[in-house]
Amino acid sequence: MLMFWLLLVVGLSVRSASLPTPTAASSESLPAPVRHAGSFEQLANSRYSVHSGFDDSLPRQVLANVLWAMSRAPRADSGVREFYVATVDNVYRFDQAQFRLIVHRAGDHRYNSGSAFEVGVAAGRPEEAGMAIQAGLLAGAAFNSEVQGTGHGGRGVVSCPMQWAADHANVDWKPDYPIQMVNVYGRAACAPLETLCVARSSDSSLPLPHVVGLDTFEAVIADLGQYSLFSPVGLSDENVSQLLWAAYGVTPHLTFNRRQGLTVPSAMASYYLADRIYVVGQYEVGRYRNRLAAEADAATRDHRLERTTAGDRRPQLRAATERIPGSAPVYFVVCVPDTAEAAAMMEAGFAGFQLLAQARALGLAGRLVVPLSRAEREATIAALELPAGHVPALVFACGEAERTVAAEGPDNAAVRIVRAQPAIRRGDLRLEYLLNRAGQVRVEVFDMLGRPVRLLLDEQQSSGYHAVVWNGTGENGVRLKRGTYLVVVLSGGTVARHKVDIG
Ligand SMILES: Cc1cc2nc3c(=O)[nH]c(=O)nc-3n(C[C@H](O)[C@H](O)[C@H](O)COP(=O)(O)O)c2cc1C
Repeated sequence: MLMFWLLLVVGLSVRSASLPTPTAASSESLPAPVRHAGSFEQLANSRYSVHSGFDDSLPRQVLANVLWAMSRAPRADSGVREFYVATVDNVYRFDQAQFRLIVHRAGDHRYNSGSAFEVGVAAGRPEEAGMAIQAGLLAGAAFNSEVQGTGHGGRGVVSCPMQWAADHANVDWKPDYPIQMVNVYGRAACAPLETLCVARSSDSSLPLPHVVGLDTFEAVIADLGQYSLFSPVGLSDENVSQLLWAAYGVTPHLTFNRRQGLTVPSAMASYYLADRIYVVGQYEVGRYRNRLAAEADAATRDHRLERTTAGDRRPQLRAATERIPGSAPVYFVVCVPDTAEAAAMMEAGFAGFQLLAQARALGLAGRLVVPLSRAEREATIAALELPAGHVPALVFACGEAERTVAAEGPDNAAVRIVRAQPAIRRGDLRLEYLLNRAGQVRVEVFDMLGRPVRLLLDEQQSSGYHAVVWNGTGENGVRLKRGTYLVVVLSGGTVARHKVDIG
């Protein structure tokens, strides 16, 4: 009898060990992504990492939006790209085609017991993981559009990329492919979305960027295409400024070690890309500086472009990496100190995502060329005469997409004035306007009787931001008499007006 019970218990325990965990559903659907009010620019200006102290009370919708945005991030030809998710219940693999979670490992395997969910990116290259991580962290922050206006102390969606969590995940989540990075999400007290721009140029080399855009973040992500054919229309200084800021510009927050935060995170706030983002245009090669001092003191902030080489180096660059589209008017070359440093390459991925998303938000077209081969890197270094320790990680080609005229109609063209400063009596008027589509632009000044007094501009322009400067003079160069005038910006059949008083 004793032998019988013994055999039964052993038999049952052997059987139960081979059975799947009874509570684990094999797959779970996710709600469709939803749209929020925050623009891409505002989320980039508002993002920061929260390292601890959050709770796990985030709705499933946040996870759905995060995974949707991450899966729409550009690829880097690295083969596999899988997303794993750890929640209090299970570790899942994200089925991108079916938009659902498939249980990968039952049970709670989170790194941080306070997190709502942790998303790990398995990708062949850190740049590719970086692009997805950046998309996902902004997608989480987008939920804080609703926290806006409640003042500090509102609780919202926070996150932090964590190397420690990635190390944990690679062991405990048992992924099929190595996880490059994990972003940990939770709920915590958070500030409302930022509208303050701190990226001011100390030498006026770049105009002030806009930290609030027109499109919602989700609209930008839904339409994140890449292009190969560009029109010859160049990029305005305003658009170049905007793109550089999005890639690596300063934002109002401070990091844990009291450095000035950026639009992207950085391992230990090391900022591998500081002074290493180059702009290659028609007249010069310049490098972006987001810090005040030449030695790049990371506690300071700036927003300037420093010329490194005069003249047009685009032909040399195009020859260096045949894969970049030859018709683009401007190229951004994102460099790292050392391509063997995964955190630096991941940061290049953050900046790459930002460039593509900002271009889209401006109505511009772009193509990311990533990764670069060793030969392409060396040829790019030679083409741009880059100093030691500035090794190209990716190239972003940007401009206006070459579109067929038939695809364009006057109906969806729009011009709007976005900034006017200062008034004429204090100096020149600088009028900034936003075109949602490329086209012929005419800017003309009229007196209050509707008589034209000065034609300021009549040319083809790309979409995005542009500026025109007027010194209050008429066609003959003589200052106009005291009175009120109207500056009219005309494009694609739409008109925007700005009143100016000459005192
Ligand atoms: C690749 C990478 C790894 C990181 N690892 C950790 C980590 O293990 N633990 C942590 O608390 N923060 C980690 N961070 C967050 C950084 O500390 C944070 O991004 C940096 O301090 C800048 O602050 P900010 O993101 O608020 O701008 C990591 C960030 C990156 C990009």
